Amino acid sequence: MFIKRFKNLAAFKPYFKKHIKLIIILISVMLIASSAGVITSYLLSEQLIGITNELVSHTLKFTLIIMVVITIHHINWYLWSKFHYRLSSKVSSDIKNGIVANLLDTKYSYIRENSTGYYLERLNDVDEIATFIGNVAGTFVDVLTNFSFLILIYFLSWQLGLFFTIGVSMLFIIESIKVNTDLRNLEEVKKSSEKTNSHFSEIIHGMKDIKGFGIKEEINLKMKDYNDELLRKTYKKNTQFEFISRIGTYFQWVIDSLLVFISILWLLPAGEISVIVLLIVFNYKGLMYETVGFFSKLKGYYVNGDYYSKRVLEIIKTPYKETFGGNSKNIKEGKISIRDLSFSYGDKRILKEINLEIEPNTLNVLVGSSGSGKSTLFFLLSKLYDIDKGSIYFDNIDINDIDEKTFRKNICIVNQEPFIFNDTILNNILVVRKDANKDDVIKACRLANIHDEIEGMEKGYDTLINENSSNLSGGQKQRIEIARAYLKDCKILLLDEPTSALDSLNQEHLFKTLTKMKSNKTILVIAHKLNDYSYFDNVYDIKKLS
Ligand SMILES: Nc1ncnc2c1ncn2[C@@H]1O[C@H](COP(=O)(O)OP(=O)(O)OP(=O)(O)O)[C@@H](O)[C@H]1O
Ligand SMILES: [Mg+2]
Repeated sequence: MFIKRFKNLAAFKPYFKKHIKLIIILISVMLIASSAGVITSYLLSEQLIGITNELVSHTLKFTLIIMVVITIHHINWYLWSKFHYRLSSKVSSDIKNGIVANLLDTKYSYIRENSTGYYLERLNDVDEIATFIGNVAGTFVDVLTNFSFLILIYFLSWQLGLFFTIGVSMLFIIESIKVNTDLRNLEEVKKSSEKTNSHFSEIIHGMKDIKGFGIKEEINLKMKDYNDELLRKTYKKNTQFEFISRIGTYFQWVIDSLLVFISILWLLPAGEISVIVLLIVFNYKGLMYETVGFFSKLKGYYVNGDYYSKRVLEIIKTPYKETFGGNSKNIKEGKISIRDLSFSYGDKRILKEINLEIEPNTLNVLVGSSGSGKSTLFFLLSKLYDIDKGSIYFDNIDINDIDEKTFRKNICIVNQEPFIFNDTILNNILVVRKDANKDDVIKACRLANIHDEIEGMEKGYDTLINENSSNLSGGQKQRIEIARAYLKDCKILLLDEPTSALDSLNQEHLFKTLTKMKSNKTILVIAHKLNDYSYFDNVYDIKKLS
């Protein structure tokens, strides 16, 4: 039932199960540490009895035993932290790898809807889950150690035992309220933090436009608003936490005072307890209050762990997974058939019953005004979006029947806004084909008419591209993307406005190369307006395909 209540947290069981040996060691270490702690509370009371009754050998004996037990306790605490960190770093890395793998399997259309902050914050949440078992085990040591003292009090006086049971239970209620309030506030802080992170990431990526349009102040003001909101929520979280903590501490003083009243007015005069018992209880009652703190910490680990798990599961268990078929038959000819294809973004209809047959080994161009749905059609052809109505066939195989590997091997897209990774030029191109070498890359770059420019750079192919590829020109980025497509060598090649950043010489070079390539490929190019359509076997106007 307990597990069911925290079902989000329970979903991460497999990640911990993998490291079961480490968990067993961790729990063993914890049990030794807590046993030592349990004995200590008994030993301390014996030591105090020795001191107050001036029993020298009794006191010395128990002091020595305490030293040994405390040494064992601390060694095991150290071992606990060592194994705790080892376990949590392994689990954290497994979950993070899982998140990335899942993200890569998620539909592009869904990923596009969320902000960078949404994903980044969730990646940070993983550590809160990974430390769960170690934290719980560690706190358990504290709980057991200190809880044993409550039992000891029952042995000394059942009245005081009962008194503390009631007092400590009420303290626990206050602590529970603290944990629940803190979680509610945490949810708000997280949401706000996602917004701030996303905007900060936008500032870094949009720096060119921010400066270019002179909108520093506006952007800064927006950031200030987000930051203020975050600070307000964090302030609320911290102050409420402190307020309830204070109530808890105040309540401890109330319990202390009541203890004095009960003892002085009733228990001592009635001979129910001795002064020594009262001294022992007074000396170590702090341990019991700590226990309540540990209980609330434990509850916090569960409640927060479950909350963080829910957030991380939203990415891992997203229902928006890409779906592919099981047909691994190679696309040998490269025929494209689009039949009655319709697509809408929400209520907004973009493509309406489009029909198009493209024959193998031809070079084709698709034209149309801005916003007419050309890129959308390419997203559908490359399975970045799912078809609403109608169908697409490659060599008469339904797009949805083709398996992922076969699909990505045979159908490639050169994007309108290519993404160049923060890596060397060589690796940026090599990444598209595992079995390729530098010579293959050079060959592709020659075809893309960028080889000479790369060679002219200080470090040639080893030149590092900045995170925003700001050390490349628009045309160079585009030609690197084209070189990738050449290296990948797909049967069906889709190019979304590959010439938008190219000068007329480069445009011509591209079309000449594509003309040579069409002998074993089907090529479809999107273009706004060209001076020369003579390279193309067919020119299609998207408006006329409906
Ligand atoms: N994710 C989206 N959600 C809602 N509407 C979208 C989305 N992506 C594109 N659109 C809209 O769909 C229409 C078609 O966009 P698309 O990018 O396919 O046009 P395009 O023909 O490629 O234009 P361009 O020539 O300017 O690149 C546009 O009106 C655009 O605003
Ligand atoms: Mg477009």
